[in-house]
Amino acid sequence: MVSYKELGLVNTREMFAKAIKGGYAVPAFNFNNMEQLQAIIKAAAEDKSPVILQVSKGARNYANSILLRYMAQGAVEYAKSLGWENPQIVLHLDHGDSFELCKDCIDNGFSSVMIDGSHLPYEENVALTKKVVDYAHQYDVTVEGELGVLAGVEDEVSSDHHTYTDPEEVIDFATRTGCDSLAISIGTSHGAYKFTPEQCTRDPKTGKLVPPPLAFDVLDAVMEKLPGFPIVLHGSSSVPQEYVDMINHYSGKLPDAIGIPEEQLRKAAKSAVCKINIDSDSRLAMTAAVRKVLAEKPAEFDPRKYLGPARDEMEKLYKHKIENVLGSKDKA
Ligand code: G3H
Ligand code: 13P
Ligand code: ZN
Repeated sequence: MVSYKELGLVNTREMFAKAIKGGYAVPAFNFNNMEQLQAIIKAAAEDKSPVILQVSKGARNYANSILLRYMAQGAVEYAKSLGWENPQIVLHLDHGDSFELCKDCIDNGFSSVMIDGSHLPYEENVALTKKVVDYAHQYDVTVEGELGVLAGVEDEVSSDHHTYTDPEEVIDFATRTGCDSLAISIGTSHGAYKFTPEQCTRDPKTGKLVPPPLAFDVLDAVMEKLPGFPIVLHGSSSVPQEYVDMINHYSGKLPDAIGIPEEQLRKAAKSAVCKINIDSDSRLAMTAAVRKVLAEKPAEFDPRKYLGPARDEMEKLYKHKIENVLGSKDKA
């Protein structure tokens, strides 16, 4: 058993309480490799922002679970070396799909886990989430549950339609499971294609596609039922047009990619939404930068020459999210 406390990590309890009180959200950035981790830590350390390092089941398989534990420990030490005296860093399992996976993460240094039973019948979701909470809380590890189904693909759990969270269920779910935070479905979805062009309207001035607004009425109803309870938004990438254009310009193929407008996320961050998940935007930044270097310098074959610029681009993106969207700068 390796406790996250030995690694210098923290759980989400205090972090979320402060975020709700302060009207901002903590960024949860997914990572799979060293360059993403370096960029996340540099951005968070320079901005003194609390941060959640988020690892999916797929990322854990890709990076290796032992290596990951030491990467997280290294991240804390790296943050300190950058002058962040008391780093507020969480290592979180994203979309855990079984008790066994959550237990393995808890036993190997994770300070927070998500158990995603959103695709299960309600009572099964309650039972599975409670089982994870009962185990996690013995070690002071915090647990995120999910109610409602996001459109798109959630790791191996796929759903091509979304079902908004039913506000009538949230009190029962939070009380019976004892979960520390709740992911809800209000119209966001995973990946770079969050809406079809048919779901959008067109701005007459710019000609750009404008996605439908998120269901803030559902969020309001959830907050009314569970005042002050930490809410999580998945699928919150904005899919920056500049990266989509860059990828397409350098022979990529991302037609009609579309994300959540930043002003909607800014509004959510001021509410009880205290964790905002971003993965796709980082993938886009990295891919755009790599494509640019390889297209402009076809003779280049030193990975540092294209992964370095990709890392710089991701750091710029993370800082932008922290400073201009989530409002978490100088909160740690
Ligand atoms: O919600 C899904 C995350 O973006 C992780 O995706 O399973 O491809 O690592 P992944
Ligand atoms: P995006 O695909 O919008 O980045 O969402 C990531 C996410 O929710 C990870 O759990
Ligand atoms: Zn997610």
